[in-house]
Amino acid sequence: MAQKFEKSSLVVDFVGGAVGHRFRSGEGRGQPLAKAAGFSSGVTPDIVDATAGLGRDAFFLAALGARVTLIERSEIMHALLAEGLERARAEGGRHAETVARMTLIQGDSCDLLPQLNPQVVLIDPMHPPRDKTALVKKEMRLIRDIVGTDPDSARLLQVALEAAQNRVVLKWPLRADPMPGVRKPSHQITGKSTRYDVFVNAKIGPSVSPT
Ligand SMILES: C[S@@+](CC[C@H](N)C(=O)[O-])C[C@H]1O[C@@H](n2cnc3c(N)ncnc32)[C@H](O)[C@@H]1O
Repeated sequence: MAQKFEKSSLVVDFVGGAVGHRFRSGEGRGQPLAKAAGFSSGVTPDIVDATAGLGRDAFFLAALGARVTLIERSEIMHALLAEGLERARAEGGRHAETVARMTLIQGDSCDLLPQLNPQVVLIDPMHPPRDKTALVKKEMRLIRDIVGTDPDSARLLQVALEAAQNRVVLKWPLRADPMPGVRKPSHQITGKSTRYDVFVNAKIGPSVSPT
């Protein structure tokens, strides 16, 4: 795994920027990611984000009331995430409430998922390189310089499918081929440039914890 970047070149920010905007605008349970993760009336899933990265998806899901465990194997990304979570906690109010539902772990999800007995697992590996490289967001390029390309993502998906009680969500580019060697998804939810391949193992029961 390449880790050649100084960690200061990338900042995890849950308060300002695009994430802060999304948070303040109150984007909700109707969003493709929320639907894919299994949110519905009376159902707020417990989620393991097995590829935490900048924590954006995890923060969005936690803001909707889910308890989210974030796993990140890169020490640099993990340190950036920990700092970002601390800043959001210090912001207080809804930011702190959201962070209180988030638990960050450093390690490889292939090793950790089987021990966690997760309800829902989200996987968003580094995407295969595209032709329109210039259009790839600068942030994504910076992450790629730190973590490389996640060539083992098919194995991670397989481990997640075996570990998840209820469902696995694979976030993947809209037009990318399915993951090789993995069963067909139960259904797909598509966004503008992203699709969510949803693999259902069992229906999620109504939430018992307050949402
Ligand atoms: C595309 S980024 C995820 C972006 C994230 N969804 C977000 O909203 O910011 C992929 C991240 O997953 C991490 N990753 C990939 N495979 C992993 C594994 N097996 N265990 C833990 N982290 C992994 C990479 O180090 C990288 O930081």
